[in-house]
Amino acid sequence: MTEAMLKHLFLPLDVGKLALPHRIAMPPMTRYRCGADGTALDIQATYYAQRASAALIVCESVYTDPTGRIGYRAGGMINAHQQASWAKVAKAVHDKGGRIFIQLLHGGRFSHPSLQPGGEPTVSASSAMPPPDTVQIEGGTAVPTLPRALERFEIDRIIKSYARTAALAAEAGFDGVELHGANGYLPSQFLSSNTNLRTDEYGGSIANRAKFMLETLEELAAVRGPEHVGVKISPNFSHHGERDASPKETFTYLAKALDKLGLAYVHIQCAADFMRPVPDTFDPIDLIRPVYRGKLLASGQFDRHSAEKAIASGRCDFIAFGRRFIANPDLPERFRRGAAENAINMETLITEGAPGMTDYPFLEPQVQ
Ligand SMILES: Cc1cc2nc3c(=O)[nH]c(=O)nc-3n(C[C@H](O)[C@H](O)[C@H](O)COP(=O)(O)O)c2cc1C
Repeated sequence: MTEAMLKHLFLPLDVGKLALPHRIAMPPMTRYRCGADGTALDIQATYYAQRASAALIVCESVYTDPTGRIGYRAGGMINAHQQASWAKVAKAVHDKGGRIFIQLLHGGRFSHPSLQPGGEPTVSASSAMPPPDTVQIEGGTAVPTLPRALERFEIDRIIKSYARTAALAAEAGFDGVELHGANGYLPSQFLSSNTNLRTDEYGGSIANRAKFMLETLEELAAVRGPEHVGVKISPNFSHHGERDASPKETFTYLAKALDKLGLAYVHIQCAADFMRPVPDTFDPIDLIRPVYRGKLLASGQFDRHSAEKAIASGRCDFIAFGRRFIANPDLPERFRRGAAENAINMETLITEGAPGMTDYPFLEPQVQ
């Protein structure tokens, strides 16, 4: 299937202030190859610059508060030193003509005391239970421990931390930020009924549980302008042991509230084989599209054909290809030419150095 048949994937699209030349985006993917201090290394600038032909790159997540780290050698942007390192990534992508947002993250209970300031317990919406997973710590992996519930004043501090990092990211040259509201991290821990047992205004009703995410987005919009802000959600998958009692009602409420914010886009993570479907499985795009009128980005096991179909039918506006973009730095050109794709090596997703990062081959230059 060549460009002629992938007509909708190659239509331009305005997202916020950006004019995207086509609809083939790269989603955020944490590769745990940063410096131990959360700085981006030169290899990341090279990796993202190689993929600058994406309509939009959403750079891997950075933590916005020292309590928000999800793993050893995951990214952070809370100080000038870290900011300078990520500025090199933004510049490398812009120098190649690309566009780049960066994802803002607080891991909440998906962390470990060894990643916390002073080795303190991890934090979350409430002290419900630790996630049933392992996290990357120095020298290996570890099982998360029971988090403590955030105090009211700490919630304010963390919401402000996202806004501070958004301001740092703007100075560093990023075109915008994506709030990580998906995959069982802190905003999602507030949203889900089994990880949020609070009895104050941030717990209980759906409206109260959605407050943390919505207030954070309002702060981001105030700092950056809503057209420079996106948000990622994952309505039909459960991550790190989260189970919302009524995901359809929760996400319908959330989508209606997001619709009022005038954001650049909402990113729906639809499916991925490393995550578990919620018991009440449904199609998240079918749920969100009728109530959210802004731009929709979708990711989750799309290939060029299913992506073309999703855009042609109006289900979403652009598509992010995760693992395909890791393995194919020139993915849009492969689609354009109807060329085969490199297969991904899952062994090198999270490892050291260039293998699996910057060594996937490009197509040969086209003979004119
Ligand atoms: C190695 C890896 C790391 C990821 N890290 C993140 C992340 O930091 N933030 C996020 O929102 N999603 C993350 N994801 C999910 C992707 O953004 C994307 O939604 C998912 O891979 C589905 O797309 P795909 O099936 O095309 O790979 C990650 C995925 C992979 C494979």
